[in-house]
Amino acid sequence: MNEDSKLIKKAIIPVAGLGTRFLPLSLAISKEFLPLVDKPIIQYIVEEIKNSGINDITFVVSPKQKMIINYFKKSPDLEKLLIKRKKDKILKELKDFEALFENIKISFAVQKDPLGDGHALIQAYKLGKISSNEAVAVSFGDDIIDSNVPALAQLINIFQTCDAPVIALKQLPRDKIPSYGSVAVEKIANNLYKIKKIIEKPEPDQINSNFVVVGKYILTPEVFEYLGKSKPSKKGEIILGEVFDKMLDDGKVIYGYDIKGEWLECGDKLKWLKSFLYLSLKDPIFGKELKDYLKNIKI
Ligand code: UTP
Repeated sequence: MNEDSKLIKKAIIPVAGLGTRFLPLSLAISKEFLPLVDKPIIQYIVEEIKNSGINDITFVVSPKQKMIINYFKKSPDLEKLLIKRKKDKILKELKDFEALFENIKISFAVQKDPLGDGHALIQAYKLGKISSNEAVAVSFGDDIIDSNVPALAQLINIFQTCDAPVIALKQLPRDKIPSYGSVAVEKIANNLYKIKKIIEKPEPDQINSNFVVVGKYILTPEVFEYLGKSKPSKKGEIILGEVFDKMLDDGKVIYGYDIKGEWLECGDKLKWLKSFLYLSLKDPIFGKELKDYLKNIKI
């Protein structure tokens, strides 16, 4: 592996899923735009990517998803209006927000039909921005890690010592695992594992460890080769976890890293509410008053 191919310069965020667990809300907005305290989930994901040293992001969007295209755009008309009305504080807030994506190259790939997370990644690859010897970071649009070292930076550190895909892992109680991707692992160092098997949404007797897959990855060119060759499963989708499992069957090495930080899931209503509460209570402006409010609330 040459030095250059160890660098991770690009990230993909697939956000073209249906978000059915948020119905009826998801009929109006995609779940990535649900707020956590005072900004949408997608902004946390972009900040995490930027703080991991990546300045090139491809979003995979559905054909009707215009919101994301408009969100990461400057608002010159609003800026002029705020200057005219002397709304200095709000103008600063707007400028701080715009500075977040000022130096990030943003592209969009379209996934015409929601044929699975793996299928979404193929659309980003087809856009032609990723070279055939380049590994990329991937973050799903509904998983946030609240940590000192950003999640993708943690995975990049691992990738730089090995020429293989890296998957973020977390441990959960066994009764929670059937709705996740369950992994069998072999420990090789502190927090670092070789993955032996991945089973998406396992039956209870298929669970081999407490580890599950978090939606953060470093994907090597070989993963995209496998994705490109994959046929949709019985459900009509190409699922990244299933493609990884095929690679494992073929003897390929895939690492799992027990990621440090608080996993803030936003994939269904209860998880999102918990993540909202966690970040709100931690918030330097709103946290204290909210805690007092919760202590005194009578229901
Ligand atoms: P999920 O498994 O959470 O699926 O996708 P979903 O469709 O978003 O939500 P539900 O299950 O209907 O409630 C994980 C990530 O992969 C993206 C999603 O947008 C999310 O970021 N995804 C999923 C796609 O981009 N395309 C797909 O076809 C499926």
